[in-house]
Amino acid sequence: MTYPELLERARACSGPYCKACPVCNGAACGNTIPGPGAKGLGTGAKRNYQKWQELCVNMDTICENRPADTAVSLFGRNFEAPFFAAPVGAMKLHYGDKYDDLAYNGILVPACAENGIAAFTGDGTDPKVFQAACAAIRSSGGAGIPTVKPWDRDTLLAKLELAKAAGPAAIAMDIDAAGLPFLQGRTPPAGSKSVAELREIVQAAGQPLILKGIMTVRGAEKAAAAGAAAIVVSNHGGRVLDQCPATAEVLPAIADAVGRDITVLVDGGIRSGLDVFKALALGARGVLIGRPFVTAVYGGGAEGVALYTDKLKRELADTMAMCGVHTISEISRDCLWGVSAR
Ligand SMILES: Cc1cc2nc3c(=O)[nH]c(=O)nc-3n(C[C@H](O)[C@H](O)[C@H](O)COP(=O)(O)O)c2cc1C
Repeated sequence: MTYPELLERARACSGPYCKACPVCNGAACGNTIPGPGAKGLGTGAKRNYQKWQELCVNMDTICENRPADTAVSLFGRNFEAPFFAAPVGAMKLHYGDKYDDLAYNGILVPACAENGIAAFTGDGTDPKVFQAACAAIRSSGGAGIPTVKPWDRDTLLAKLELAKAAGPAAIAMDIDAAGLPFLQGRTPPAGSKSVAELREIVQAAGQPLILKGIMTVRGAEKAAAAGAAAIVVSNHGGRVLDQCPATAEVLPAIADAVGRDITVLVDGGIRSGLDVFKALALGARGVLIGRPFVTAVYGGGAEGVALYTDKLKRELADTMAMCGVHTISEISRDCLWGVSAR
């Protein structure tokens, strides 16, 4: 199967809203929620994508001629490349009838593990979603990151126990889910958490806790003060608040402020290995990619995940070779054109 064939197959089965576009840039889905679009006018997803495209890389091939190594170590585990599948939930609502969350994670989690990366999994009001995600992670040897919503204290503590039993490298919480329209007024209730509440959650997690949905230096400092091991600079793909900056725009200042103390990851509009390279150059240690992994699963199941993961790895390795870096840790802001070093 080729990538264009994968897209064609996905187009036939990913529901009425996703068009499985050649480039997943938020243009066709706009503000369709339900669906994979963004909130309000739908500008968030488009801006995320666009800002990576505006960054240019510095080519330099006068260097030792040896292969680029995309491997990284994060949260005490080795991965073949510095990217993860992002958590995506409520599959039937957003992508039609083909897969529910259980089936989607049942394909995605082992496929990512087999290809040397890991998947974050989503959460839902139906307890079976988180239980099944944790089961998929456990049976993949803990190669996955369960992502819990910011529920009320009792629900959260019970879900953290389930997550821990899966033996993951880390546990995540999408703290920005407080803004999701379809979580408003639902049971169990979800919402914002104070630094003091987050401290208790970090303790209860007993694993590195990743706070996903940080868009300011102030937010990053609060996450660090709460004891989070990592943050994901993310605006949930534009789905929780319209008219936010793009993640590429806020990442450098956040990485400069907290990157020495905690692990900084980023997502939103990252589509290629070249985009992954740019995100690392701006200061991220790794990235999450959401919508295109959905397209990979719908278009080709486990084979689709392998195909897309391999494509990303090859693009990243090619960019590294063309920019004169041989290992991930050598990627720095100097690799970007017109961006001043930190
Ligand atoms: C349909 C859909 C469902 C999502 N569900 C979740 C979720 O359950 N938990 C979560 O943390 N993020 C969720 N996200 C956000 C993604 O994890 C990610 O932050 C966002 O899509 C940006 O990455 P992308 O531009 O590569 O898609 C969802 C995104 C989409 C499009």
